[in-house]
Amino acid sequence: FSVALRCHGKRCRPFAYSTLSKAISRPTLITPSPLAKIQKRNAAQAGTSNGTWRPVSVLDEWVAKEARPISLRQLMVFGRSLTESRLISSANYVRTELPVRIAHRIRDMQKLPYVVVTNPHIEEVYQLYYKAFDTFRKFKEIKTLEDNEKFCEVISQNLKGHLTVIPKLAMGILECGRLMDPKELDHFMNVILRSRISRRVIAEQHLSLTETFNSPYFSPGATLSESDFIGEVFIKCFAKDVISRCAKAVTHLARSTNGPQVQVPEVKIDGHLNASFPYILSHLEYIVGELLRNSVQAVIDRHQQHPDHASSPPPPIEVTICEAQEHVIIRISDRGGGIPREELPYLWSFSKGPQSQKRLENLGQVPRMAATMQELHVTDELGRADLKAPTYLGSLSTLTSRPPNLRLGMGLPLSRVYAEYWAGSLNLHSLEGYGVDAFLQISRLGNKNEQLTTRASMDA
Ligand code: COI
Repeated sequence: FSVALRCHGKRCRPFAYSTLSKAISRPTLITPSPLAKIQKRNAAQAGTSNGTWRPVSVLDEWVAKEARPISLRQLMVFGRSLTESRLISSANYVRTELPVRIAHRIRDMQKLPYVVVTNPHIEEVYQLYYKAFDTFRKFKEIKTLEDNEKFCEVISQNLKGHLTVIPKLAMGILECGRLMDPKELDHFMNVILRSRISRRVIAEQHLSLTETFNSPYFSPGATLSESDFIGEVFIKCFAKDVISRCAKAVTHLARSTNGPQVQVPEVKIDGHLNASFPYILSHLEYIVGELLRNSVQAVIDRHQQHPDHASSPPPPIEVTICEAQEHVIIRISDRGGGIPREELPYLWSFSKGPQSQKRLENLGQVPRMAATMQELHVTDELGRADLKAPTYLGSLSTLTSRPPNLRLGMGLPLSRVYAEYWAGSLNLHSLEGYGVDAFLQISRLGNKNEQLTTRASMDA
């Protein structure tokens, strides 16, 4: 505890207690984080006589600040007629916003039980976050384009440096599945992943705007057409096009996994085929790709059990697009036999499930994993995303190149994190013995703020 107290005024780093953690002989013993206790006491002591709270460390100062969420529409309006002063404001927004958002997540980690926060994978993520927090909070105000170039380099390095965060978190969470209430672990994971997506969105958006601004074809203040991207935001994302592209990629993947002779179900699209909305294309590709991949594999597996499967094609996967006033809903229906009853309770869980051990082994083989597909796009020498046309190729080739038989158990929960991040939703209805209907709801107008808090939490 004395180590903890000394650390508290500067940087609260759980690794300072790793020796203590090794001394815990029974891993099932759940000890509340000593940091949490100390922080509570310090906070109480720091309270002034009128009951207000005053920060006691640099981290506290940043945790006390609120994140300023943005909407897709704001991102578009801001980037639509780009000027030097807008680019500089964007840079300063990201410069101040990143440390706030990271600080909140560092604090969440400090509140985890001691045995969880000292898990080596979680601890590694903690270190990465603290380093990034320190770097961004110390970055001086950006006043010139030159300052911005330096800032973009720092962003790019951090984006690259954090590519390993998801598999690390996922392994840590699975390893700690028996040390903490799985519901709380899943809640923690949801919040931390959503926040990570949010930070990468604002960071990548700024890199994209800078790249646009630096392009020789760019004229300041020029207005873009509807078919364009504004930074990372695809102004008119046609649901049908995205589904078709994902279906192609998933078909290709199914052939490479199951052999060229396999009969892959057709993906039929009907409904409002002209439905469009502003969105971050790679987010949608991730969700639709994962849902189609599950459906296609389930149908293939079930069809192969059928006695005369060789002579009849597998039943198609039917995708219906429904455009309502405020939402676009995409329903993906398959006849793959439904979800096994024993898997249903763990469908959305990062921390628990019948295959936890296998998932852990598989995760160990994944050096990096995307929480936004932009992470895996072709990058230039600064690690900046290479945009526009390669965006499609980038996401889809990622989908097809991921080791096909490596089941990580993260596709569905991560897809839901994406869907909810832009104020949408993802639900599944399993019809036992028949098939699954997945419902993805997307906010159509792009006017909803990013959702930094999950339903159960108010602490972003
Ligand atoms: C992350 O990927 O976890 C980040 O926080 C990225 C950000 C530091 C640019």
